[in-house]
Amino acid sequence: MVLDRAAALAAIADEVRACRLCRLYEGTTNGVPGAGSPDAQIMFIGEGPGFHEDRQGLPFVGRSGDYLNYLLNLIGLKREQVFIANVVKHRPPDNRDPLPDEIVACKPFLDRQIEVINPLVIATLGRFSMARYFPNGKITQVHGRPKFEDGRAYYPLFHPAAVLRNPDLRRDMEADFKRLPELVETVRQQRAAQARPPAAPAEPEPPEKPTQLRLF
Ligand code: URA
Repeated sequence: MVLDRAAALAAIADEVRACRLCRLYEGTTNGVPGAGSPDAQIMFIGEGPGFHEDRQGLPFVGRSGDYLNYLLNLIGLKREQVFIANVVKHRPPDNRDPLPDEIVACKPFLDRQIEVINPLVIATLGRFSMARYFPNGKITQVHGRPKFEDGRAYYPLFHPAAVLRNPDLRRDMEADFKRLPELVETVRQQRAAQARPPAAPAEPEPPEKPTQLRLF
C-alpha cells in the first residue's frame, strides 16, 4: 500500500534523471520520467521522449502532445488529471526506435510508476507500449479493444504521431479515445464489487418439527 503516491513518484523521477543504466542518457538534456496526477484513473504510456520533451523534461509537449491534449479535451479531461509516461525515459538519438535492451533497462521505472498509481485503465500509445500487454498484437487489429486483467483495463491506442502522419487514422483514434470514460467506469465497478464483503449466507430454514410418533 503506497501511502504517499506523490512522494513515491518523485523518488522514481529523481532516479530516472540520474539513470545511467543504458546508453540513452548520452547526449540528452533531461530525463523525462512522466508527469500528471499521482491519483490518475487513466495512465497513458507512449514510446520515448522526442526533441521538445528532452528540452523540457516533460512527456508529450511537442506536436503529438498538442494532439493528445485535444483528445483529452474530447472526453473532458486535462492532462493534469491523467498520468503520462513513456516506455523509455531518455530521448533516443534522432528519435530512433528504442532498442530492446533500452526498454528492458527502463522497465523497472515504468513498472514502479504503475504500481504506485494503480490506474484503472492503462492506455498504450503506439507499438512499443502495446507490446508490453499485447505481445503478438498488430496495432491495426487490436487498437480500441480493451483487455481486462489484474483489476484494470489495458487499452491499445494508436500513437498520436502516427495519426498526425496518417489522418485516415483520425476517426478510429477519436472513437477509441471516446470509449475511455466507459472503461474507467467498468473497472471502477469491478473493483468496487471485488471490495464488497461477500453476501451473508441465507438464514437456514428452521428444521421441521419432528412429527410426534403416536405410540397408542
Ligand atoms: N512521443 C512519445 O512517445 N512520447 C513523448 O513523450 C513524446 C512523443
